[in-house]
Amino acid sequence: MADASEAVVQPLVQPFSVWVAAVQAAMEQALSSFLPADASAPAVLHQAMRYAVLDGGKRVRPLLAFAAGELFAAGQQQMQRAAAAVEMIHAYSLVHDDMPCMDDDALRRGKPTVHVKFGQATALLAGDALQAQAFLVLAEGAGDASCKLAMVRLLAQASGSIGMCGGQAIDLASVGLNLSRQQLEQMHRLKTGALLRAAVLLGALSGKLLTVAEEQALDRFAAAIGLAFQVVDDILDATADSATLGKTAGKDAADNKPTYVSILGLNASLVLAEQLRQDAHAAILPFGDKAHRLRELADLIVQRKT
Ligand code: IPE
Ligand code: IPE
Ligand code: MG
Ligand code: MG
Ligand code: MG
Repeated sequence: MADASEAVVQPLVQPFSVWVAAVQAAMEQALSSFLPADASAPAVLHQAMRYAVLDGGKRVRPLLAFAAGELFAAGQQQMQRAAAAVEMIHAYSLVHDDMPCMDDDALRRGKPTVHVKFGQATALLAGDALQAQAFLVLAEGAGDASCKLAMVRLLAQASGSIGMCGGQAIDLASVGLNLSRQQLEQMHRLKTGALLRAAVLLGALSGKLLTVAEEQALDRFAAAIGLAFQVVDDILDATADSATLGKTAGKDAADNKPTYVSILGLNASLVLAEQLRQDAHAAILPFGDKAHRLRELADLIVQRKT
């Protein structure tokens, strides 16, 4: 019989829900510390920025950044900066998405939208300032300069006209149109997929520069979950209620937006989301067991109810 001192000690693996709660709590603190204080001038702008970012949201992008970072043993500080930068861009995109010139929404994360609470001009500026703050958070981090440069480049591409903004432009130009499946996929990949991809890659880069094979595997994973995320967002818009979502349900149909539900129907959209979940799992097989958080997040993204 083996002596107790020779017994193999299995590393304690936190249950997924415990890990999620810990990352969310750490990110709330990190985001708060990376944002200007409420009382500092110009106070109303800073209050609007903090209102947009703090106290709400599922933090899916930070969770992805942490999962990818942990795969490469990244440090906490580096992962927090990468995650915070992507979440700030995401929060800015929501502030602008909700404005009357875009989706004209009054409810976000269970609270009045930023323009409803602070007025349109402040909402516009809060979004602009959050975008700048995201890059400041990256630039001010410690860590390898080539990793930081790669992060800045990736985040800029993911946010701009060939990323999220480009997708939003296609979204606005598509109201009332019957998009082909290919056009719909392109719109979703840009408006939502691009930033989710950035979350995964920035998280990984907070650990180390990636080999071509590592980047390709993460990219395939990110492409699958990025599209799945917006397919599920479209499904939830059509099937869940506003109280559960914390945003106005049924808005896509009311606004005549082309979505996966309007173009493929609900059942085919559910089947597609499940297929994408499996694609995501397949993409990260090369990382083996170490990628379990990414696998769990792919499941969460597809099976979420909010
Ligand atoms: C909503 O994103 C907007 C889309 C890109 C579909 P989330 O569903 O991640 O929103 P929060 O951050 O949890 O509020
Ligand atoms: C928004 O897509 C995507 C971005 C904010 C870039 P939606 O307009 O579908 O997001 P929700 O449903 O308002 O959260
Ligand atoms: Mg929109
Ligand atoms: Mg919207
Ligand atoms: Mg939506």
